[in-house]
Amino acid sequence: MADDHPLGNRVGDMRSILTEDPQTWDILWKQKVTPWDSGEIQPPLRQVVESGEIPFTKGGRALVPGCGRGYDTIYLASALGHDTIGLDASATAVEAANQLAQSSSLDLDLVSKIHFEVADFFKYEVPEDRKFDLIYDYTFFVAIPPSKRSLWGSQINSLIKPGGYLITLMFPHVPVHDPQPYAAGPPFYSNFTSYEEVLRVGGSEWEVVLNKIPDDDTLLDVHKGKDRIVVWKRTA
Ligand SMILES: C[S@@+](CC[C@H](N)C(=O)[O-])C[C@H]1O[C@@H](n2cnc3c(N)ncnc32)[C@H](O)[C@@H]1O
Repeated sequence: MADDHPLGNRVGDMRSILTEDPQTWDILWKQKVTPWDSGEIQPPLRQVVESGEIPFTKGGRALVPGCGRGYDTIYLASALGHDTIGLDASATAVEAANQLAQSSSLDLDLVSKIHFEVADFFKYEVPEDRKFDLIYDYTFFVAIPPSKRSLWGSQINSLIKPGGYLITLMFPHVPVHDPQPYAAGPPFYSNFTSYEEVLRVGGSEWEVVLNKIPDDDTLLDVHKGKDRIVVWKRTA
């Protein structure tokens, strides 16, 4: 199953190492089993920010759970001027992200806006006045066990400000009735419904302000036909 996966047979290696314990991700990072790491900013994120089609606030606070090496964390701090926190349960990932930031010749003002922290997203708390204007999820939702998806939804709701935006870059996006959704990864799968059913909880309301399949010619090869970007605005 993993042999014909777009990310190659290292997805099989991932599945044999990961358990429900987020610390098992650190083993992957230490063994350099990181097939999801594309080495660059995700083109659909760049496109949605730079098109100006959504009036994202600037100079606020952003969160990137499961940030990995942090390409997109650095990009959001740079493009929107947000104080941006990249969270990862793996200390090795955070070390790699800090190294990337240090080696990227960023100006000091930008460096002061980028913060990488080792933390379990499910235990992460911020006071009321530190809630986020923007949360960006790319391959974090599909990294957690599906049994934790409703907890992901309640955490997003507890961390984002009313009026804040959530960008979900879904990869791999599979059809709702795909007979073999687990053939996708890393290591799980997603579709629009799987986010929607866990976000609208506890009376919170979300408006879908963008829902699109990026043009294949803008995507990295392994993403063609497998990405969907949805931007949600928390309205209440
Ligand atoms: C599939 S990788 C994606 C990394 C990054 N978003 C990227 O695309 O390059 C998932 C990341 O989530 C992190 N992770 C897994 N469970 C976590 C948790 N409970 N809290 C924070 N990070 C977690 C892993 O260490 C890993 O770096």
